[in-house]
Amino acid sequence: MKIVITDWNFPNIDVERNIIETAGHTVVDAQCKTEDHVIDLVKDADIVIAQWAPVKAAAIAAMTQCKGIVRYGIGLDNIDLEAAKSKGIPVANVPDYCLNEVADHTVALMLAAQRQIISTWDRINKGTWVITSPQTLPPLRQSTLALIGLGRISQRVASRAQAFGMSVIAYDPGLSPEQFAELNVEPVALEEIWERADIVSLHCPLIPPTHHIINKEVLAKMKPTSIVVNTSRGGLVNTNDMIDALNNGVIASAALDVVEEEPLSKDHPLLKAKNMIVTSHTAWHSGSSITELQTLAAEKAVDLLTRIKEVV
Ligand SMILES: NC(=O)c1ccc[n+]([C@@H]2O[C@H](COP(=O)([O-])OP(=O)(O)OC[C@H]3O[C@@H](n4cnc5c(N)ncnc54)[C@H](O)[C@@H]3O)[C@@H](O)[C@H]2O)c1
Repeated sequence: MKIVITDWNFPNIDVERNIIETAGHTVVDAQCKTEDHVIDLVKDADIVIAQWAPVKAAAIAAMTQCKGIVRYGIGLDNIDLEAAKSKGIPVANVPDYCLNEVADHTVALMLAAQRQIISTWDRINKGTWVITSPQTLPPLRQSTLALIGLGRISQRVASRAQAFGMSVIAYDPGLSPEQFAELNVEPVALEEIWERADIVSLHCPLIPPTHHIINKEVLAKMKPTSIVVNTSRGGLVNTNDMIDALNNGVIASAALDVVEEEPLSKDHPLLKAKNMIVTSHTAWHSGSSITELQTLAAEKAVDLLTRIKEVV
């Protein structure tokens, strides 16, 4: 059977080749950037593995014998799930390869913004050595962290924040009151978050109701000392509204691992916004997470084919 990898940005795909070829299948890989390239490539695929390439309705319509789509990663926003469902093609992700890495990175961004590490470093580089922080600095242990989405990554962020003595509140329509109680996290309505949070951290999927969940209306309701952290998906934050809010002191700071336009161009105004910290979608990465992602994605692809063979 033919397993098509639409795109990948690892040092190589030896791990996948080894797993797939040992199972008796062949690998065809490319670096698709456009929908047209994906459409061309997936026509006779038995399984499609995609990282960032758009696997949208037209590509799914062009598939003649596809038995499954696997996303290299957690988010499924580059795959048209409705189109796959209506064609009866199962879609799998790799849900658990980097949960601690992303939680650690979220806390690193939160601390860097809250303790004003980057703005202090900038100030030192400009020749100013002062022993108070550049902006008002509420104590972390008296701060409230609001999590939007309380899934696998977010629960790990919650426990790390609790270790710092922070109060943790969250909005997640998918969790029961018992689950909130077990995590010692206070369930709140989304509307309550803006006025109560000192730090808002985003961990929900990018879906139509969450697109631009951070926008100028909600930023205006937030405390001027508040911080927004996003390690989920760039489309959750309206970039222009965020730039305006930072430059006009509506909120204190933002720390983003994901942005609407990736890769971010060198002269993008976001990079010049006041008290902005950006990392380049690296939250997932560690020495072991890449290999784990590649292994689990390839195993899922082979597993989908094995199951189909068993059913036939
Ligand atoms: N930056 C990175 O490198 C990186 C790496 C891995 C994952 N991610 C992203 O992190 C996000 C979270 O991943 P996860 O593994 O914790 O996912 P998860 O599925 O375990 O958790 C997501 C949670 O969001 C909740 N949710 C759904 N709709 C919601 C809404 N409208 N409002 C609030 N909450 C809602 C769900 O009920 C669920 O509990 C995903 O978007 C994923 O793509 C980023």
